[in-house]
Amino acid sequence: MSTDNETQSLNDEQFGPNDGVLVANNLLKQFGGLTAVDNLSFAVQEQEILGFIGPNGAGKSTTFNCVTGTYKPTGGTVWFKGEDVTGLEPHEMVKKGMARTFQDFAPLRDRSVVRNVELALAPDELFTLSGVGGRTRRLAEEICRRVGLGDELDQTPGELPHAGMLKLELGRAIATDPDVLLVDEPFAGLSSTEVKELSSVLESLREHGMTLIVVDHNMRGLLSLIDRAFVIQFGSKIADGTPEEIRNDPTVQEAYLGGDEI
Ligand SMILES: Nc1ncnc2c1ncn2[C@@H]1O[C@H](COP(=O)(O)OP(=O)(O)O)[C@@H](O)[C@H]1O
Ligand SMILES: [Mg+2]
Repeated sequence: MSTDNETQSLNDEQFGPNDGVLVANNLLKQFGGLTAVDNLSFAVQEQEILGFIGPNGAGKSTTFNCVTGTYKPTGGTVWFKGEDVTGLEPHEMVKKGMARTFQDFAPLRDRSVVRNVELALAPDELFTLSGVGGRTRRLAEEICRRVGLGDELDQTPGELPHAGMLKLELGRAIATDPDVLLVDEPFAGLSSTEVKELSSVLESLREHGMTLIVVDHNMRGLLSLIDRAFVIQFGSKIADGTPEEIRNDPTVQEAYLGGDEI
């Protein structure tokens, strides 16, 4: 059973540059008087699928934004592949091999599904492939197939169901050829069948060598996918462990008494 002391020591844990492929130490993000991320430290291991869980407003997306360069952290350090990348711009992070999906994303409505993915391809790939007729299109098609949009290549995003839009956002992120992919709430609004389908897409990405951090505000669908979960509330870590350990943790259960199911 977790006590306040244990929760405190959980938050005192410190990490260094080589403790994982992606490491955050004492990450802090304040908006005026509000502390959204409160001295958060964590290390993600290569080819791991880490679940990042917490009630709405816990600071999950803000943590993602600080790690991927969308926001500059107020304090703390982020290391990626051993290098200090704190405060770098998002496009620099993408170049180094980190990609993310956004909860609110906007594909180009007047372009086809495959064209949207093609336009997100890594500049290096475009450079290498330039002049080779049709190669970028074929690469984009391959990515679409990998995320389960092989039959919808020529549709416009508006014709896709919600699950298809999430796959498209995943495809656009994968097009940048990342080593580490941060996926923000991929299961929101999906049926359990769609959750399973998307989970197997994420698992196949891991099989291809990718490291994944997957956010959800509850554990539905995440349990069978992730190796390890990391639970935050009010910007601080409240638990860390296997899905089963997390599920049975009284501190976690208490954090969810507000109504969200675990
Ligand atoms: N750009 C911002 N400006 C001010 N407050 C923000 C901003 N982004 C997030 N917040 C606040 O930070 C807290 C954490 O938000 P968020 O990271 O989006 O939570 P989660 O993704 O876990 O639901 C919330 O109180 C939210 O209102
Ligand atoms: Mg969020």
